[in-house]
Amino acid sequence: MKKSYLYLSTFAVVFFVVCHFFILEALAACFPDLPSPQLTFERTEDYEVRGREFTRYRMSIANASEYPEELFAAAPQLPACGNNTNSSRTWLDILDNTDRRIYGFCAANLQNVLDRIWFARPRGEAPPPRVYVNLRDRECDVTLTSNDVSTTPVRIRRNISDYSDEQLNALRTGIEVMQSRSDTDPTSWIYQANIHGAFAQDGTPQPAWNSCQHGSWHFLAWHRMYLYYFERILRQASGDPNLTLPYWNYGDTNNPNARQIPLPYRQPSNTGDNPLYVTNRSSIMNNGGLLPESAVDHSVAFALTNFSSPAGSGQSFGGQRSGPGHGLSPHSVFEGTPHDVLHVNIGGWMGSFERAARDPIFWLHHTNIDRLWEAWLAQGNGRSNPTSGQGDPWLNETFTFFDETGATVTLTGAEIIHTIDQLNYRYDDQPSQVEQASSRQIDQKVLAKKNMKDIQLKDEPLSITLQLAGETHELVKGDLILDLEDVQVDALPLGHYEIYVNLPEGEEPNYKSEYYVGNMSFFGPAKTDSPKVSSRSFKFSLAEVEKRLKKNHQWSDEVRVTFIKTGPKSPSGQRMIEKMAQPATVQIGTMKIVRE
Ligand code: C2O
Repeated sequence: MKKSYLYLSTFAVVFFVVCHFFILEALAACFPDLPSPQLTFERTEDYEVRGREFTRYRMSIANASEYPEELFAAAPQLPACGNNTNSSRTWLDILDNTDRRIYGFCAANLQNVLDRIWFARPRGEAPPPRVYVNLRDRECDVTLTSNDVSTTPVRIRRNISDYSDEQLNALRTGIEVMQSRSDTDPTSWIYQANIHGAFAQDGTPQPAWNSCQHGSWHFLAWHRMYLYYFERILRQASGDPNLTLPYWNYGDTNNPNARQIPLPYRQPSNTGDNPLYVTNRSSIMNNGGLLPESAVDHSVAFALTNFSSPAGSGQSFGGQRSGPGHGLSPHSVFEGTPHDVLHVNIGGWMGSFERAARDPIFWLHHTNIDRLWEAWLAQGNGRSNPTSGQGDPWLNETFTFFDETGATVTLTGAEIIHTIDQLNYRYDDQPSQVEQASSRQIDQKVLAKKNMKDIQLKDEPLSITLQLAGETHELVKGDLILDLEDVQVDALPLGHYEIYVNLPEGEEPNYKSEYYVGNMSFFGPAKTDSPKVSSRSFKFSLAEVEKRLKKNHQWSDEVRVTFIKTGPKSPSGQRMIEKMAQPATVQIGTMKIVRE
């Protein structure tokens, strides 16, 4: 009796276990079409265990909800995870950039923690630079591999108006510490500014001095690299490990004060030691004056869909396919407005290559330019950065900088395209990037040409009439371009010229009107120091103006071009022209109208 009971119960147990096993086997469906895990690096956290300090590197899997729960159910029929005989069917492994497994997760219901996976290192020890994860479904022998992510946290560059007093003080400390370093130290304030441009009087040119890129498609890339290393140096100098460069969103139409220099940058302190403030600026701007509306409006540049244009043409967002070069022209539409006109309306140091980066506002201006580059891309419709093929010279061009230890470093165009993945930063409002390719060819036909040698442009409005030849009134192909060649200045004028076409006699110029075509300004090397770049060219598309004027039957063979000098406005919005000690004279060599 006793024996048979034992026999029966043993049988029952074995039967139950076997059945259970087969039932599980039968139920364990495989999922052939699961997506790859999308890994995101979240942040680092410091913690302590028994007196030892560690840093935890936190990550998450963004598409965790796309996996069936079953994938992470307890799987007692599969090998145990350590002592855990009830571990998850699918295990998660974290691997480094050499494909070595550095940590893993195997507890059942792993799905609940896919948004907070991590690995740790003793504090101060460098983590592997990049990691990825494998999801290993042990039941069906399927491994899903994620993208790899950098283990450096993505830093966020924010609007200056959101900076706390503490953050502003960290900025000030960083600047002061950099300013206290010797001019020959690559991490000093002056050395960094001299990388942008320097005068002969600044001493024997040191490595990387005078290397700012203007007037070619390297403009945006070079300044992005420059900001990136400057920011690392400033952060280290500030002592705040989270410091990032703020941006000045001067084009924000929802903020009536957006066109004023942000307050912390124009407030001299009682003791005169606010390092964000410099006196070498337009006094109107330093007293709360407003940038002219036409200086901050990037809509003309944003309408363009091509990043680059052929050598000789500035009709693109990013610049002509030439260079590298310090003072090339024509500038791209975006480099012209808002970039250049911001410089010349702030004036003072900001007005020339050789002094611009000594003004702390330079960095605030250029983060915004860098941010607008991302915003332009995000508009899609064919907008893209250079891609391999035609873009090779851009992708491969190497520029030299210094990191926070003073070591020489280099970057290429290809290494700075994705700010998040490659440079570990983004803007607080950065939209996701859309990439598509685009290209364009040009063919030029000159319709009018005028020698302007005996005409000088000063502060007073000036109009010039050109006669278009060789055009019939039938539909014509190609964009109409206003081409100003061999333009020379004897000093860098403060403010800029708004250009209008066929502005009716007596009508008040308004940059929002259909007659406005763009801005001409002279941010560049101070002439005395760089005579070889004293001549520049400017190109403006007349396509929109032509279209609108034709529609209103206001278009004729006579094209009248009007130059209106403009500059910072008084805080009450009045147009003012600041008197310069030495008023600048602008001499345009030739003015042409061409169809491209
Ligand atoms: Cu290289 Cu805004 O200047």
